[in-house]
Amino acid sequence: MPQPTDAPDPIVYMDTAARTAVGQDYKERLAAALDLRSGQAVADIGCGPGTDLARLADAVTAAGSVVGIDREPRMLAEAGRRLAARPNVELRLGDVHALPLADASVDRAKADRVLQHVDDPASAVAEAFRVLRPGGLFGAAEPDWDTLAVADDDVRTSRGFARFVAATVRNQTIGRQLARLCTRAGFRIRSVDAVAVLFRDFDVADQILGLRRLSARAVEAGELPAADVRAWLRRLADEPFLAGFTFYLVTGQVPPETRGDEPGMSSMTRPAAAGGGS
Ligand SMILES: C[S@@+](CC[C@H](N)C(=O)[O-])C[C@H]1O[C@@H](n2cnc3c(N)ncnc32)[C@H](O)[C@@H]1O
Repeated sequence: MPQPTDAPDPIVYMDTAARTAVGQDYKERLAAALDLRSGQAVADIGCGPGTDLARLADAVTAAGSVVGIDREPRMLAEAGRRLAARPNVELRLGDVHALPLADASVDRAKADRVLQHVDDPASAVAEAFRVLRPGGLFGAAEPDWDTLAVADDDVRTSRGFARFVAATVRNQTIGRQLARLCTRAGFRIRSVDAVAVLFRDFDVADQILGLRRLSARAVEAGELPAADVRAWLRRLADEPFLAGFTFYLVTGQVPPETRGDEPGMSSMTRPAAAGGGS
């Protein structure tokens, strides 16, 4: 029997998040920043249930290819079901710290809300660098949970809730670290954008932020008084609602080695070097 403090099913959670207006908006922005072209090879690192694979496959057309990588067989099974009609989408079981891809084998790579969960984000970003061709682009999108704020007169409970939520995520400040991690891995930063993720509807925020579920867990853990949380939730549900956090989108480029290695040029579309080939 499911309890109110049980975590939601991860696939349902990812689908719900992707359907929100802000989810759709940032995913479009991330895809646009990747500057996808026909014929490219793209890796979706931590592809989950395949949320973005069809969009990527459309952008690179049948001339290109998409590989979705995830460490969870259940995610890949669901992605396989959703992408069954896409011959240019391949799924591979693998870990972000040791990607099942050869060096310099893809033109684009993206990781969307994956690095927040991994053991070693720096080595995961270094892996993205390794598998990208010279001139290739990496796009990463991550929240910064340490910026979570819930508007209420009881600021102490809002802060306590926000701290509790942030503590449930392994790399809670990954958003603000993304550009630094990419630079250290060798990428040239092309863009850094901060998106204010705002919720003005209690029920939508509850689905994404776990207002009821995680505040109940904070009470169970002895971190917040039950009476304060009860009153806090009542006001949040009854009064005009506002909560938000900062979400970062970063694009980095592997330095091009030759003039042919410009963004948008895959090995298939890159012109042969002057005098090269026969
Ligand atoms: C929040 S979901 C995001 C899924 C997808 N990128 C999206 O935007 O809907 C994070 C995904 O990363 C995967 N993941 C977490 N750690 C991983 C790791 N070390 N290696 C590979 N995948 C990982 C999880 O299995 C999950 O599918």
